Amino acid sequence: MYSKKLAEDIEKELETLKKAGKFKMERELEGTQGAEVEIAGKKVLMFAANNYLGLANHPEITKAGKDAIDKYGFGLSSVRFISGTETIHKTLEKKLAEFLEVNDSILYSTNFMANLGFFATLTNEAFGAEGEHMDAIYSDELNHASIIDAFKLCKKENMVKRIYSHGDLVALEKMLVEDQGKGYRFKIIVSDGVFSMEGYLAQLPKLKELAEKYEALLFVDDAHAIGVLGKSGAGTPEHFGLHGKIDVLSGTFGKALGGAVGGYIAGKKEIIELLRQKSRTYLFSNSVPPSVVMASIRALDLLKEKPELLIKVKENSEYFRNGAKKLGFEVLDGIHPIVPVMLGDAAKTQEMSKKLLANGLFVVGLWFPVVPEGTARLRFQISAAHTREQIDQALKILSEVGREMGVI
Ligand SMILES: Cc1ncc(COP(=O)(O)O)c(C=O)c1O
Repeated sequence: MYSKKLAEDIEKELETLKKAGKFKMERELEGTQGAEVEIAGKKVLMFAANNYLGLANHPEITKAGKDAIDKYGFGLSSVRFISGTETIHKTLEKKLAEFLEVNDSILYSTNFMANLGFFATLTNEAFGAEGEHMDAIYSDELNHASIIDAFKLCKKENMVKRIYSHGDLVALEKMLVEDQGKGYRFKIIVSDGVFSMEGYLAQLPKLKELAEKYEALLFVDDAHAIGVLGKSGAGTPEHFGLHGKIDVLSGTFGKALGGAVGGYIAGKKEIIELLRQKSRTYLFSNSVPPSVVMASIRALDLLKEKPELLIKVKENSEYFRNGAKKLGFEVLDGIHPIVPVMLGDAAKTQEMSKKLLANGLFVVGLWFPVVPEGTARLRFQISAAHTREQIDQALKILSEVGREMGVI
């Protein structure tokens, strides 16, 4: 029964969130996602979306989506293995695998679902063996929530999790050494390819070296890197010269590649086949709608046809990063279009993001517990859709508000 007490407890919890400054407000956009958006009847510059290539409202992408609706309808009312597989799902899976230079790939409704599906399937599966088994997973402490939650679907009796401090691969190796001889069935090292709070890249070559040395499978979640990093946009493996050499990749079509939804796992043929047969978040959840599939296929083609998009997002990111530094802000170094401007203080960050919005610049402020205490920041996200004028305008607003608040 929905008791009075439950309602009161929920209210109390919501109040606590509000008092702690952790209550998330949803800003309502009144139109399309792009370099500029409309909020409360006013045009503002958008620097808070994962729309790295500007494909979220690109005419070729929206056309592909509309054409797909005309040809295949809106939805399939089914999971993949019953009646939810169109030829285009297979086409996208094949195209993606070719792009990533791996054997095969499998679509999920989201990257979150893909991560949940992968770890539970692999660690819970007995593979016909008698008796108990235990796998070990080694995970960077700052890995995405979907990886953290994925571990919760792995049975405790089958999986031990080992968390290493962010980027501390010496600590990781120490764990791998300690665990030698413990009889773990499989070892899996898992890392985000790009850490979204800083825009820092995982140290992929070293992770790969450790995975090989200690016979562990390497899993990289490249959500923020697919369509962004590497010469052709294939992500962190390509960036580090490891194209096609990572055992398992996960990623999303919900950021650079059109920005709607849709996730994937890509890698060795037998792993993908196993997921198709046994992964519960794949088997028992609806197939990706045709409009998203066709638009994602178009996004992969556009990456090839318009390499200038990748160049533009890179150049824009460098231009903004250098510009903010020159103004006197403390900016994290990097090459990714996530550009954090460090303010330190949470209250100041909250106030500044509000003032920036009032002045026509939408950027997200992040503070504890989303980032470590004392490291509050404005997280700018740069897009190929931004013009130089728009970036200059953003820097001008940032400079004016920064001066007014005594930050610079
Ligand atoms: C590293 C990482 N993995 C997974 C996800 C989830 O992606 P999706 O929105 O496709 O579920 C995100 C998105 O924030 C992410 O940053």
